[in-house]
Amino acid sequence: MENVFYGGFPQVRLRRLRRTAYLRDLVCEHTLRAHDLIWPIFIKDHSSHYHEITSMPGVYHCGLKELLNACEQACQLGIRAIALFPVISPEKKCLMAREAYYPDSLVPRFVAQIKQRFPDLCVIGDVALDPYTSHGHDGLLAENGAVLNDDTVRVLCEQASVLAGAGVDVVAPSDMMDGRVAAIRQSLDQKGFTHTIIMSYAAKYASSLYQPFRVAIGSSLGVNSQTKKTHHQASKNPLPLCKKTYQLSPDRLQEALREVAFDLKEGADLVLIKPATLYADIIKTVSQTFHVPTFAYHVSGEYAMIKAGVARGVFIERDVVSEILLSLKRAGAQGIFTYYAPVVAGWLQDGHER
Ligand code: PBG
Repeated sequence: MENVFYGGFPQVRLRRLRRTAYLRDLVCEHTLRAHDLIWPIFIKDHSSHYHEITSMPGVYHCGLKELLNACEQACQLGIRAIALFPVISPEKKCLMAREAYYPDSLVPRFVAQIKQRFPDLCVIGDVALDPYTSHGHDGLLAENGAVLNDDTVRVLCEQASVLAGAGVDVVAPSDMMDGRVAAIRQSLDQKGFTHTIIMSYAAKYASSLYQPFRVAIGSSLGVNSQTKKTHHQASKNPLPLCKKTYQLSPDRLQEALREVAFDLKEGADLVLIKPATLYADIIKTVSQTFHVPTFAYHVSGEYAMIKAGVARGVFIERDVVSEILLSLKRAGAQGIFTYYAPVVAGWLQDGHER
């Protein structure tokens, strides 16, 4: 940027364009809109009333009735997409994650109900086994406790087909197994689901920020460990769930780009980066390198940190949330998964967030 094009002080005064609200609006570069927001919702069978998740104030386990209310609310607020995460009762979890591809299980049943009432609401179904395995890993385990790649991918294909059959618009593999996008695409196409979109969690980091989510769906190891001792001698002395053999290490940028490149080559329509704020550099690099719609997941721990700060009076919720979500748009996110979706969409309706 040569001064010759832009001039300098005192002819140029950048504050001139910041003087009034109108002028700031006039030169606005990025905005947050309700349809940028994707609302992740925890669903549960036999939950006749809302149950709040302790570390995530304002986030609930929803039974069918509450879920349909949430869909109604989403439509009124201008939120166009929701993502469903099931809370599976411990007796239905097993080492083989059978409930994950059972056509009459929680997610397909609830999706069918949503689609009957709200056919235009985009429903995103998570493809991963962690809600369904007794140990909480995203895949099947070998005898020695290692997470099996190819066997897991076969189950993910079944799961994706069941979700597509139930009517989800988007399947979102969040498991980080190798080769799963190609396998899922092929399996969907063979069954005639050529329009089902694949949003791959292409760069999902092994982050400490998923803890509230794991507690919410009951996938944190040690909580419901029914696995063989060899998998984790954890029953007495629970170890935190470690997913570093399949999720990305936080020190990696190049590897994230390889992950995205592979997933796109395998047929991913959309890619997702997760978590969001600490990985804004990844969002930016991916969106600028591949020119594909890139999404960000503002995860449970990011939500919990804000809530904790707000509860202590550290900052004003509306200001800090708007700033964070806007920073993700600026980084290059096309849309953002956030538990704040309904709250922010409400703010957008009565005000002006940027
Ligand atoms: C696992 C999955 C996780 C999240 C979404 N899908 C957690 C994990 O990898 O253990 C976390 C989302 C959040 O923290 O909000 N398939």
